Amino acid sequence: MLVGVSLGPGDPELLTLKAVRVLKEADKVYVPGELAYRIAKNFCEPEIIEIPMGKGKEYAPKIAERLAKEAKDRLIAYATLGDIHFFSTFMLIRKIIKENYPEVEIKTIPGVASFVAAFSLLNRDVDKPFKVATQGNFDEEVLIVLKVKRPKKVAEKMKELGYGDIVLVERAFMDGERIARELPEKSSYFSMLIGYK
Ligand SMILES: C[S@@+](CC[C@H](N)C(=O)[O-])C[C@H]1O[C@@H](n2cnc3c(N)ncnc32)[C@H](O)[C@@H]1O
Repeated sequence: MLVGVSLGPGDPELLTLKAVRVLKEADKVYVPGELAYRIAKNFCEPEIIEIPMGKGKEYAPKIAERLAKEAKDRLIAYATLGDIHFFSTFMLIRKIIKENYPEVEIKTIPGVASFVAAFSLLNRDVDKPFKVATQGNFDEEVLIVLKVKRPKKVAEKMKELGYGDIVLVERAFMDGERIARELPEKSSYFSMLIGYK
């Protein structure tokens, strides 16, 4: 199995218990660079798979092949800074493995994204809609709607705004977890809609 592990923003105390457990249990832990290495090193003996800046597309297929082969009969972890699902080197690797090595089971462990952790340092809150962008692209393509109680109705509004691929995530990582593409009329308070353009 291949597990994508989130290392958090930098402080080795900002990993989840689950992330630490997998780092300790894995037969092999890979990291994409020195910073990730320094965090993971607190829990295991990681190995750096160097991906030079801007060379992800060129390097990813080879790395994917290597990880897929090793993950067939061993527990392999690939750990990145922040949360593994946001702008990480694992995204492309995971995509290639899913397409070319479908027999490899892939899981991920969520973590503290840098842009969430930053607010703790600033001592500021966010209680209004917000945007996470990159330097070269301010046009968001993902919309997350919190506090959704009437998913079907809210999804109509999202569709008007151009979001087509809409999923309800209810009670994530809690008892009664539900991921629904067929949207119900009502959902619990612990629900969000995630739409992609
Ligand atoms: C390749 S992205 C990785 C994002 C990461 N997966 C996350 O969830 O935070 C790298 C960018 O994330 C931001 N970043 C990551 N760690 C950070 C930290 N500890 N402090 C400030 N920014 C950070 C910076 O903008 C950096 O250029």
